[in-house]
Amino acid sequence: MYGQHVFPQGFVFGGATAAYQVEGATHAYGKGLVAWDEHLAQQGRFSADPASDFYNRYEEDLELCERFGINGLRISIAWTRIFPTGIGEVNKEGVEFYHRLFQACRAHHVEPYVTLHHFDSPLEMYRAGDFLNRDVIDAFEAYARFCFEEYKDEVTYWFTFNEIATNALCRFIEGSWPMGEKYRIDKALQCEHNMMVAHARAVIAYKQGGYAGEIGIVHCLHIKYPYDPNSREDIIAASRDDVIKNRLLLDATFRGSYAADTREIMDYLADLSGGKLDIRAEDIELLTKAADLNDCMGVNYYRSQFVRAYDGENDIHSNSTGDKGSSRYALKGVGEYRMREGLKTTDWDWIIYPEGLYDLLMHIKLAYPNYKKLYITENGMGYKDTFENGIIDDEPRIDYIRQHLDWTLRAVEGGVNVMGYFVWSLQDQFSWTNGYNKRYGLFYVDFETQERYPKASAYWFEQLSRTGHLL
Ligand code: NOJ
Repeated sequence: MYGQHVFPQGFVFGGATAAYQVEGATHAYGKGLVAWDEHLAQQGRFSADPASDFYNRYEEDLELCERFGINGLRISIAWTRIFPTGIGEVNKEGVEFYHRLFQACRAHHVEPYVTLHHFDSPLEMYRAGDFLNRDVIDAFEAYARFCFEEYKDEVTYWFTFNEIATNALCRFIEGSWPMGEKYRIDKALQCEHNMMVAHARAVIAYKQGGYAGEIGIVHCLHIKYPYDPNSREDIIAASRDDVIKNRLLLDATFRGSYAADTREIMDYLADLSGGKLDIRAEDIELLTKAADLNDCMGVNYYRSQFVRAYDGENDIHSNSTGDKGSSRYALKGVGEYRMREGLKTTDWDWIIYPEGLYDLLMHIKLAYPNYKKLYITENGMGYKDTFENGIIDDEPRIDYIRQHLDWTLRAVEGGVNVMGYFVWSLQDQFSWTNGYNKRYGLFYVDFETQERYPKASAYWFEQLSRTGHLL
């Protein structure tokens, strides 16, 4: 009950990771290349090796989980450890690695929640257009089927994709990710749609296989508030941006088709960059079938946005590079992001708006009543931790997590079925565009020695996970 600040029995208190951000060993043990390897080498700023050296240190991290009462761990499988080029020959060493990892999870009483794709498509497939190329959908389904069968005795909870929208946007609208292009809204939407079809194919395959576990997808969702709630133009702008980042995905996940107004905005947006969407009748059939089969959905929530109408020239700078980075998002005919006075931001200019998580959870319950179960699969704060006299005092992070959990509890009390919360991240890890500067972990990683140290937030989280009481 919210009044008592107590989480429901069985609520999962977890930590989150992703293969490319923690494992290291990017060119070892038979692993194939991903687009990020090439991109980071070209940039020459940093690499994902050794990241948090999770490939060799997972036992240590699982011991920490057990010691600190963390009973769930989000892990992703690196597609190219299993199939080095995405299809064809299997890399036995990679397959065995994940068997050892999942068994170690069990030994430490940590439930693995496993994602099949966390931004790390095989290089060759990326070059061939990645999910814009429908052959990649076939390859993904084959990879998913292989994993379901291979790990059926060790994994109960599966997620197909992590953050389809981030993947599509950073590549085709922001242009900040490998082989990036800018302002191709049409390609971004097509990529999102095709990835949703790949999700549907994997869900259907899982259910046809008769496996005993559960399957869903992880979306990064932000509420899009009109900057001026009384402005018709701002309301339209927020709604257009909402389609790109949220509505397309939620409609595809739970309705299995696009609502008429969603589709209308999708076509309008594609047209802005001179493209047409290829959405086939058979895609809708697959999405519709999968919509009833999903067991759960993961919500990654970090911030919300206040959107103002914008008709100037396209002008987007990703806020993710550099020490702070200049944040600018202005998309012609869509909208621009504005800071609301009085709100705080993280060290990386992300607006802190925990009540947005409540609005989001309630929105899902009301707009998509067939959703079944939700997990907060990522939430956390990028912060420039300092390590002084053996202490990492990350009070702002504790505060951030506490507030988001508080609003989660209110949503639970409002009838939303939330089953667990995973802090991004378990330990400090590699960040896609900031390297090692942006720390999120409950456990501090000294990247020189790879030693782990609990931060103040880890002790705070332990007390929460052991008692279920939010203080
Ligand atoms: C979401 C992504 O899933 C993860 O890979 C990323 O590092 C965090 N957000 C923080 O930006």
